[in-house]
Amino acid sequence: MKLHCLFVCFMVFLDQANCLNNGLALTPPMGWMSWQRYRCTTNCTLYPYECISEWLIRNATDLLVSEGYAELGYKYVIIDDCWMMTSRDDLGKLHPDPDRFTSGMHALSNYVHSKGLKFGIYQDYGVKTCAGYPGLLGHMEIDANTFAEWEVDYVKVDGCNSDPWTMDEGYPKFGRYLNKTGRPMVYSCSWPYYQREQNVPINFAAIAEHCNLWRLYEDVQDSWGVGAGSVRDIMDYYANRKDVTQYAGPGHWNDPDMLIIGNFGLTVWQSEAQMAVWAVLAAPLLLSTDLANVQPELKHILQNKRVIAINQDPLGIQGERIHTREKINTWVRPISPKVGEHFSFAVAFVSYRADGMPYRYNVTVLNLGLRNPAGYIVNDLFGTSYCDEMVKPTSLLQVRINPSGVVFLELKAVSQKQCEQEEESKC
Ligand SMILES: *[C@@H]1O[C@H](CO)[C@@H](O)[C@H](O)[C@H]1NC(C)=O
Ligand SMILES: *[C@@H]1O[C@H](CO)[C@@H](O)[C@H](O)[C@H]1NC(C)=O
Ligand SMILES: *[C@@H]1O[C@H](CO)[C@@H](O)[C@H](O)[C@H]1NC(C)=O
Ligand SMILES: *[C@@H]1O[C@H](CO)[C@@H](O)[C@H](O)[C@H]1NC(C)=O
Repeated sequence: MKLHCLFVCFMVFLDQANCLNNGLALTPPMGWMSWQRYRCTTNCTLYPYECISEWLIRNATDLLVSEGYAELGYKYVIIDDCWMMTSRDDLGKLHPDPDRFTSGMHALSNYVHSKGLKFGIYQDYGVKTCAGYPGLLGHMEIDANTFAEWEVDYVKVDGCNSDPWTMDEGYPKFGRYLNKTGRPMVYSCSWPYYQREQNVPINFAAIAEHCNLWRLYEDVQDSWGVGAGSVRDIMDYYANRKDVTQYAGPGHWNDPDMLIIGNFGLTVWQSEAQMAVWAVLAAPLLLSTDLANVQPELKHILQNKRVIAINQDPLGIQGERIHTREKINTWVRPISPKVGEHFSFAVAFVSYRADGMPYRYNVTVLNLGLRNPAGYIVNDLFGTSYCDEMVKPTSLLQVRINPSGVVFLELKAVSQKQCEQEEESKC
């Protein structure tokens, strides 16, 4: 595990030397965000239950608690674009749209806090937001102060309508204004996304130093495999960007965008695949769905405690796709507990196959790069193929993966002593 050791050493270096030190996002942020499902819906006459409004945010807040998401860690309630009035006031201050946010932002923030949750908001680094509302440029200090006054806990800063060549200075500058308010706010940056789009060189070390999380690739769309931003497209993109893996760690994360589970585009099996790969990627788990109407099977996936625990693993090491064979994509993430020099692992087998029968796939533990001589205890996190079974590096893992589905395993490293005590199977 030479590579993985390198990652850890580098992470430690980043953390001590020059990482954003606001004490936040020590594990990937979890919560709910309006954009993917609700977009810039502003006509509340036409769409009373879907427009970006105080009602929508209160509804999501209530449901995070009543449907059991909050106690599992989904705690940030984040309003994306389209909450503002179309212009600033005479003093340059932002205000929410008065028809859709009648009680004002501070009251809404208080409401979210009263339920034990955290409140997030959206701005844009440019002159205008992506949907055309007033952006940060020229107003960084006043906006940072306004957000602090509203007791905001999380700020997503998009990058439409701006010059990405100025972002290496501009994003850290806004971060300093946030810091100066004295209120800890998670800082989510779209800085590398806009630089990538316009072929500006990206300084990831600087981004990890100034942001708690950052978007690099397309907005997620409500689809398994159609077009840019589909779940498959995003998985493939990150599989091919192994250069960014090393920048993830406690306090600073790659953000492949929201979970679309609960919406229209994914089957149950595809939903498991998104959840598994997002866990391997140490990605933020931001729901963007109508929490009142999530089908029970899908809610079960979103609330899978063992999968959430992998996503939230305290070591914070991002995993990678190690290979694709027979259209089975193998994703591997080192996790705790560590036994001596050996990590435990989460392993996701994601199928891109389309032949009806669940595909039988065999791989030895060693072929996954897992070398602990004492072995591992294997559990299947969504299914029942393994339940507390002992394997050695030479053992053959055998799984059956549904077309466009996943088998997601946890392999917990054991010591020699544990290994001797362990029976063949506890099930
Ligand atoms: C909202 O939708 C209604 C019903 O279709 C329409 O009459 C109204 O003009 C729309 N309002 C705006 C501001 O577009
Ligand atoms: C939230 O909105 C849905 C409609 O999308 C509604 O069915 C549900 O009752 C609302 N729940 C709360 C707690 O407001
Ligand atoms: C501001 O930055 C300093 C130095 O990194 C850090 O110690 C402090 O916690 C930060 N405060 C906030 C509110 O982010
Ligand atoms: C997987 O292993 C089983 C049992 O050893 C064997 O029957 C099967 O043919 C193997 N499948 C493949 C695709 O190699």
